[in-house]
This record gives sequence, structure tokens and C-alpha cells, in this order.
Amino acid sequence: MEWVTSPTAMQRTALRLRREGKRIGLVPTMGYLHEGHLSLVREARRHSDVTVVSIFVNPTQFGPNEDLKSYPRDPARDRKMCAQTKVDYVFAPSEADMYPRGHSTYVVEESLSRHLEGATRPTHFRGVCTVVAKMFHLVLPDVAVFGGKDAQQAAIMERIVRDLNFPVEIIVAPTVREPDGLAMSSRNAYLSADERKQAVCLSHALHWAQEAFRKGQHEAAELKSGMAKVILYAPQAKVDYIECVHPETFEIVPVVKKGAVVVMAVWIGKTRLIDNAIME
Ligand code: PAJ
Repeated sequence: MEWVTSPTAMQRTALRLRREGKRIGLVPTMGYLHEGHLSLVREARRHSDVTVVSIFVNPTQFGPNEDLKSYPRDPARDRKMCAQTKVDYVFAPSEADMYPRGHSTYVVEESLSRHLEGATRPTHFRGVCTVVAKMFHLVLPDVAVFGGKDAQQAAIMERIVRDLNFPVEIIVAPTVREPDGLAMSSRNAYLSADERKQAVCLSHALHWAQEAFRKGQHEAAELKSGMAKVILYAPQAKVDYIECVHPETFEIVPVVKKGAVVVMAVWIGKTRLIDNAIME
């Protein structure tokens, strides 16, 4: 496994690999890797000859009062996990190399990005779209794998690839969960032992919605209020949003059809967690 920090070295390597006819698979991450990330690596390997994992805590996707400084980092552990998962290249650039002084160009998706995560975090998706576009130019992937856990992010990635004609296939892989149902996330590291127990309320609420939908409840308002009640059982949980949305446009739907996505963001103490489920 090679650890590359220079963007120009990464791009030169990618150009060489492409000339050799290799298919490149990219998994963009912010590090502090867990089994969810590794499942994306395995998925990327199924679709490519060479797997690249990018590790970059991207400052432009954090708001001024968010957790950029405290975001968990452990490059040594990440390195070991990547090697064990047979990653070919880790691309871990510095902030100064990714955003040289005077950087002033951004990629802005103007429809799906506006609400839900974008309402609470107004510049978040501009930062995500910009860094992913840069990663695409530096790693030149044939396929890029994103997690369904960040469903709105994945839908926006599909949109920018279509709208800006990136020659990249986007694959969305299922959410990997802890045994009790909590979606794996680097931010779970912020939870105290007691908060960790309460955090299962997200997956319990989604499970409740799934069951209610199966039994014939298709009214978004009913599903949302039932989920909010499940979350009330966790004393430190505070709902940011619960919505039923169209899987591609992410528009809010009043009546939930098969394939629609129930998305949610919940504060557990000072930690904001997101999760979602496809209604089927
Ligand atoms: P990060 O939170 O590190 O996540 C990297 C990728 O792993 C994303 O595609 C995310 O959806 C996926 N992922 C996270 N938890 C998962 C889980 N439990 N199961 C399956 N996949 C999971 O998302 C980002 O970083 C950044 O916004 C990034 C795309 C790298 C741009 O900076």
C-alpha cells in the first residue's frame, strides 16, 4: 500500500494507472475509519483494479461553530486498517495543498443541497461538492463509492456527476450498523456511555417507521409523529428533523410510496447524528 500526500503525485499516479488501462475505484473519507468505511472499500474493489481511499478532514464542509477542530483523527490506525483491507493507495493531502492561499472556486449544487442537512448546515454541501470534485480530478476514478448512511450526500453526488459530466460511476453502498442498530459513524466517538445507549433511538424510530409502512401507514405526518414519540424515550435526544423524501430529488413527500426515504437528524446531548431508511 502506498501513502500519498502530494496532490500532483496522486494525479500523476492516476494518469499512469489509466494509461495502463487500470480501473480506479475511489472511496472518499475524512478518516477515523470504521467498518462502514471498510465496506465501501470492499465494494470499490469489486468494481475496480486499483482502490484509492482519500483521507482528508475537509475544512470547507464544516460551519464556523462546528466540530472541525475536535473531529476525531487517528492516521496510524487508519493506515493499519487500510493495509488490512488491501487498499492500494491512501491519498491523505494537507489542508494547505488542497486549499492553497487564495482558493476561491467552489462547486455548488443548488437544489437538493438547500434543505435538511443543508438547512442546518448552510455551507456544508458546497464544501462536500468542492472537495469531491477536486478528488475526482486528482484520483481520476472510474467508480466512486459513497455510503447510503449519508443519503442526501449520496444523492447530491449523483446529481453533480450528471450535471457536470464527470466520467465517474457513483455506487451507493448500504449502511453498516453496530449490533444494536446504531449506524456506524466517526462522530459516535463523541458519545458518553449513557448517550451511546440513548443513540439507538434513531434506528429504533426508523424500524418503527418501516413496520408502520409495511402495515399500510403511508401518511408522512403519521410516520413522523410516531417516530418522534419513539425518540421521546431517550431523555437526551432532541429531534433536528424527521422527513419523508423522494429518493432522487430529496423533495419532501406528504404520502410515502415504496422506495421513499425517511431521513432524520437527532441531537444526542452535543452530538448530532443522522440516519435514514428506505421504505419497502
Ligand atoms: P465520512 O463521514 O468519513 O464518510 C465517508 C464515507 O463513508 C461516506 O460516503 C459515508 O456515507 C460513508 N459511511 C459513513 N458511515 C457509514 C456506515 N455506517 N455505513 C456505510 N457507509 C458509511 O462523508 C464524508 O466523510 C465526507 O463528507 C466526504 C464525502 C469524504 C467529503 O469530505
